[in-house]
Amino acid sequence: MPTGIDEFDRVLGGGFVAGSLVLLGGEPGIGKSTLLLQASDALARRGVSVLYACGEESPAQIGMRATRLGAGGDSITLLPEVNAVALEAAATISMPGLLVVDSIQTMFDPELSGAPGSVGQVRACTARLMRLAKDKGITTVIVGHVTKDGAIAGPRVLEHMVDAVLYFEGDRDHAFRVVRAVKNRFGSASEIGIFEMGEHGLTGVGNPAAVFLGERDASTPGSTVMAAMEGSRPLLVEVQALVTPSYLQVPRRLATGIDTTRLLQLLAVLERHANASFSGQDVYVSVAGGVRVVEPAVDVPLALSLLSALRSIPVPVDVIGFGEIGLTGRIRSVAHAEARMREAGRQGLVRVAAKLPNGTAIPTGSESLGIGTTVELGALLR
Ligand code: TYD
Ligand code: MG
Repeated sequence: MPTGIDEFDRVLGGGFVAGSLVLLGGEPGIGKSTLLLQASDALARRGVSVLYACGEESPAQIGMRATRLGAGGDSITLLPEVNAVALEAAATISMPGLLVVDSIQTMFDPELSGAPGSVGQVRACTARLMRLAKDKGITTVIVGHVTKDGAIAGPRVLEHMVDAVLYFEGDRDHAFRVVRAVKNRFGSASEIGIFEMGEHGLTGVGNPAAVFLGERDASTPGSTVMAAMEGSRPLLVEVQALVTPSYLQVPRRLATGIDTTRLLQLLAVLERHANASFSGQDVYVSVAGGVRVVEPAVDVPLALSLLSALRSIPVPVDVIGFGEIGLTGRIRSVAHAEARMREAGRQGLVRVAAKLPNGTAIPTGSESLGIGTTVELGALLR
């Protein structure tokens, strides 16, 4: 059941699977309700009846938002219901094509003690909705709030119960939002959808390369473009590093959008195998635009940015990096090299800092720099 919102359908694996239970998690204010209202509207326009259970906001508030989003399908029913049993009864009578439960933390099962939002309640309500989805074939999406400190009763405790888990990521202060599939019984669990939050809700970002590199200043040290793979598509992102003298006893190491352990390990490798000393220096790294890069291929661009920042030498403008770095300072090849190079080439990033497996076809116009070690990586900065 495609929603017609391309970026959302991509993460869902083509659309909602009939009778499935999907969990959409994310921090408050990230855009979960907005996306689901837009998806509900898109489906309603295709003749699907939607029952939207709102425990978070009043129907009047949601109505106002719907107007702002230009959503006007009259086959969306807003139901202010927080009692799971009552909701189940309502859904059984109306048999909607899509049931949205916003949010699971506001629901309660009257057969159970415990406040709404507690682990027990959240689990019981989800189990009830799962039975409803399976027995009656009602496609259901539940919203789950995640808090920064990873609340106990957050969506994590539900991951194993549902068919698909999607997380809304991104910075509330950035316009860009990424919906990432972390589990999908019916499709690929590595797809992402990219959105931009604007005045009229979320819009899919069709050309992410241009977006994430839009504000890059290639003449400043500490910036490298990475060709990341997000699911089936390559995505160009800017990996930034800042290295400054520390005034602290224990210098700071801070990573945003990149795993901190990766950063620490890479710093150690560079100290040992690239003749770089970060002692007495604070190190900050981030991925521009509020994106998160989880794959090991981030090592090469991260190392380049770190060395570039440390030595105050910018990375050449036409260099693209990707690849994993082992503890011995050797660079390892990563999958999808050709797709990465092609996407980079389109943006004029034609010199490839990566270890390419034998037999890799290098796209016309691109050139391999034949990098195999962190020392060779460092030699690019002159
Ligand atoms: P919301 O979808 O309510 O987040 P969640 O359900 O995840 O808590 O809204 C997210 C934010 O987006 C909110 O701060 C207001 C903003 N927003 C826009 O910028 N434009 C819009 O058109 C809408 C509907 C919301
Ligand atoms: Mg909401």
